[in-house]
Amino acid sequence: MKNTSFVWHPNTQMSEWESFDEIKSAKGVWLTDSNGNKMIDAVASMWCNVWGHSNPKLIKCIQNQSKKLQHSSMFNLTNGPAEKLAKKLIEVSPGMHRVFYSDNGSSAMEIAIKMSLQYWKNIGESKKTQIATLKNGYHGDTFGAMSVGYVPEFFKKFKKQLFSTIQFPAPNRYRIPNGLTFSDYESQCIEKIEKKFQKNNDIAAFVMESGAQVAGGVIIYPDNFQRRISRLCKKHDVLLVLDEIATGFGRLGSMIEYKKQKSIPDIVAFGKMLTGGYLTMAATLANKKVYNSFLGEFNEWKHLFHGHTYTGNPIAASIAIENLNMYEKNNLIKKIQKTQKIFEKYYQEISGIDIVGDIRHKGMLMGIELVSNQERKTPVSPKKSINKIFFEEGKKNGIYLRTLGNIVMIVPPLAITENELNLLLKRVIKTIKAAKSQLI
Ligand SMILES: Cc1ncc(COP(=O)(O)O)c(C=O)c1O
Repeated sequence: MKNTSFVWHPNTQMSEWESFDEIKSAKGVWLTDSNGNKMIDAVASMWCNVWGHSNPKLIKCIQNQSKKLQHSSMFNLTNGPAEKLAKKLIEVSPGMHRVFYSDNGSSAMEIAIKMSLQYWKNIGESKKTQIATLKNGYHGDTFGAMSVGYVPEFFKKFKKQLFSTIQFPAPNRYRIPNGLTFSDYESQCIEKIEKKFQKNNDIAAFVMESGAQVAGGVIIYPDNFQRRISRLCKKHDVLLVLDEIATGFGRLGSMIEYKKQKSIPDIVAFGKMLTGGYLTMAATLANKKVYNSFLGEFNEWKHLFHGHTYTGNPIAASIAIENLNMYEKNNLIKKIQKTQKIFEKYYQEISGIDIVGDIRHKGMLMGIELVSNQERKTPVSPKKSINKIFFEEGKKNGIYLRTLGNIVMIVPPLAITENELNLLLKRVIKTIKAAKSQLI
């Protein structure tokens, strides 16, 4: 494949890569490349794979639906699988009332932002135009999503074109400001939000990831953090928009993370795991209050001006239904809660590696932060991309890895077995040790 490809790869310095390995097939947690090499998919194909690859039930579902209806528009029409899936999503998502479909997580968040801003216009409240967010959050790569999930290293080149938001810190247990306990720090973060809410009544919505900031480096919220924000939103009449694209449907060991966090969103977005990682689909759900504000006479122009060509695709919807049914039939959430304990077995060995600064883990998600100086917590910063170093070393050890900055991300398919996870974590440890000399 050397130099014959015309593909421009995502988030990649193309000059670093001569070619890309071609994945020819995959089964369970194993990816097989064109040379026959096998690697464990340690990132669940960008955090979305649930049952492993080539699951016969999901394949059958694609086959069956594709014989009946491949795609038909949701403009003026509907289709059975999209209807059935919406019903299912409403059943599992407390407080939600309607489902708006899109094709990917970034779009689902664009829609959530639009819904939250237009809600206030629809009810005649023109002052509420600001969006509040958490620093270090990530919500996708489109312009609205970049605005609310502003990661400076990724997006500063577009800063002028992005809309401004009010950002609040999220408490990071590894980087507590001097002189504070973690609990003080958390309270300080909450107080900042409350003060601002008391002063400004122009905040339309608070947008945050549910349960943890994933792309921001696996920052897991302390127990009551999200609940406290939810309460403040209700008290000060700010809509709460939760992003469960990476954290919903089991990644953190819960089906619906906002329920676990005892928080009450007005709008919530799901993606990634929705179709088990087989087809592209996302959904933005709104509660009755938000949805009803969009109703009116046609010439009031209250309806939502948003729609994508592949919205509500019946093949994607039917696979999502089967996927969600399989969660119930296989008791997946219970299984995850058990399997996730395997991670704990390796804490000590991983933290014993001298470039490991911190391990952050919840459910089927682990972030290992690499530092060149443990005391100063200085992130490793080699000239070559850390991702490439880990990809190459991982490959030698039979795992497919993609890092985020100085964080090694372990995000396996949710149904990975205990034996497979043991093997994966042993290989991760080997890989970190092997990569060390190239990192500092
Ligand atoms: C929390 C969160 N929101 C939104 C997105 C964007 O989803 P997509 O990549 O499907 O556009 C991601 C992707 O990683 C994410 O982690």
